[in-house]
Amino acid sequence: MILVSSSRILRATTKQVSTLNTRGTKLRCFSSLRESYDYVIAEKRDDGVGLLKLNRPKALNALCDALFEDLVHACQALDDDPDIGCLVLTGSTNKAFAAGADIAEMKDRDFATAYKCDMFAGWGQIAKLKKPTIAAVNGFALGGGCELAMMCDIILAGDRAKFGQPEINLGVIPGAGGTQRLVRAIGKSKAMEMVLTGNMIDAEKAERDGLVSKVYPADELVDRAIEMAQQIASKSHMASMMTKEAVNASDEMGLQEGLRLERRFFHSLFATHDQKEGMDAFLSKRQPDFKNS
Ligand code: CAA
Repeated sequence: MILVSSSRILRATTKQVSTLNTRGTKLRCFSSLRESYDYVIAEKRDDGVGLLKLNRPKALNALCDALFEDLVHACQALDDDPDIGCLVLTGSTNKAFAAGADIAEMKDRDFATAYKCDMFAGWGQIAKLKKPTIAAVNGFALGGGCELAMMCDIILAGDRAKFGQPEINLGVIPGAGGTQRLVRAIGKSKAMEMVLTGNMIDAEKAERDGLVSKVYPADELVDRAIEMAQQIASKSHMASMMTKEAVNASDEMGLQEGLRLERRFFHSLFATHDQKEGMDAFLSKRQPDFKNS
């Protein structure tokens, strides 16, 4: 069931969300969602889903620095919110998810500036979120837009979506993961073709090639993404966060190391309430009541 009517935009509070280490020292400290953002519409829904819409429609959601700062802030606030179990990232219109980094903003940057500020390094925060993320891509996902979608855990596409890494047409290369995540998603030859020609692929081919997990009619896409996010958010957050960490670790680890990590996560879940509850609920033929602890 879609719970759009029960959603609410979070009001800003002065409350700080923080994570403590064993000595009580703050490791991270993010504020709650702001009341509003210049370039992102962020919503904490009552169904455990955080919905983020990139909102710079006149520039097809080109990812200027200010947009990305808004996005990272809102994502981290929702990621740290114990009520939220899954995030959905989408565009505010069906025309674009994001048409890439802002070409006008970066055109006159020099090497020293790009290098010293480690341009795009901060974008990687999206891939480091603890809660599962779904990119719901309608329209263009090009350059940094395609890279942003690939930083998410699942990509769903509208039937008119277009994916591409057209940086080669600008005399540069992908700078936020396109040469790395695309290869892992669709294999070397197909990725090489996309980054070397700059050609776009449509949603159907993106699904066939494994970049996208499902394609929906454009107007249904966000509702379907929210339904999937609701389903994910209803599971134990402890288990879904460890699942995400283990799956993503497979990009970085050899098989034996990855299998060991998976087993250790599996073992550690026996320390949680939710493992006892989930297994008891199965055996008692009832729905589990997870506490995310
Ligand atoms: N940066 C800045 N502005 C952009 C933009 C971008 N990446 N993409 C689109 N826009 C702007 C256009 O300049 C235009 O602005 P004006 O109305 O002020 O002229 C507006 O958005 C609408 O765009 P178009 O008129 O071009 O729309 P279209 O429907 O004819 O074409 C498009 C759509 C094919 C997506 C085309 O806009 C396009 O090719 N955009 C650039 C795509 C691109 O090269 N992306 C890669 C950027 S580099 C990068 O992302 C590096 C990285 O790895 C992080």
